[in-house]
Amino acid sequence: LVFDSGVGGLTVVDAIRSIAPNVRVDYAADTGFFPYGDKTDAELRARLPEVADELVEVIRPDVFVIACNTASTLALPEVRERLSIPVVGTVPAIKPAALLSKTGKIGLLATPGTVRRDYTAALISDFAHDVEVVLHGSLELVSLAERVARGETPDLADFAAAQAPLFAQDEDHRIDTIVLACTHFPLIREQLKQTAPRAINYVDSGGAIARQTCRILGAQAPDFVPEQPPRAIITSDPSRHPELVDTFVRFGFSRTEHLDRQTDMGRVSQVSSTMRK
Ligand code: DGL
Repeated sequence: LVFDSGVGGLTVVDAIRSIAPNVRVDYAADTGFFPYGDKTDAELRARLPEVADELVEVIRPDVFVIACNTASTLALPEVRERLSIPVVGTVPAIKPAALLSKTGKIGLLATPGTVRRDYTAALISDFAHDVEVVLHGSLELVSLAERVARGETPDLADFAAAQAPLFAQDEDHRIDTIVLACTHFPLIREQLKQTAPRAINYVDSGGAIARQTCRILGAQAPDFVPEQPPRAIITSDPSRHPELVDTFVRFGFSRTEHLDRQTDMGRVSQVSSTMRK
């Protein structure tokens, strides 16, 4: 089960499918609490283990993948503590970016939450102490990625404006590599490339998360053929988000279910479906 606040984790779903096409990948988005990037640490620490636990109860996956930097860099230990199955987290690709940079200066684009985490600071001091790192947190980029995933084509000027504050901190124009430290951002990689002031390598951690997930699933994974279609489940009412339901269809999820957290049914969550097409 791949989990995110919104559509960002779909980039991780793609990465898993590309190396293990026969693995059944279900998807859950905490749309009822989206976006995570502007929530306080306390709010996310309280919510994540609860939602993760309810989803695992309903879906019963072999592995729970937190395809969200904002959640993983804060509450991975709490979610691991709560669940009795393996949990894979998302770590900003700071180490590979530092290795890749020829100029010794990298950028990092993430949510404001990920940018201010101690976890992110620790990654930089562990793996990028010999390169300069410039950070920028942007919720605007998250919302542009959500729009692109829904089939909209926002103005390129909006992408340029949203990443401009990162380049504004790069007075000597040396940044050659940028970490996409939010799983939403690979959805807009092309737009970011097109509107960057020069050629930049945009690096994400989708491949690494996919490999780690498959390692945990073990040797049986490549031969495992799913019997049922994959499930997509969200924490708000799908009938309120027809374009989101359509996005899921494009990613191979033919129906979107609702994890209704309002119902007082103990650990049994209410699941209803919306079929499209
Ligand atoms: N996709 C999420 C991440 O990786 C966060 C987006 C949000 O909800 O703010 O950080």
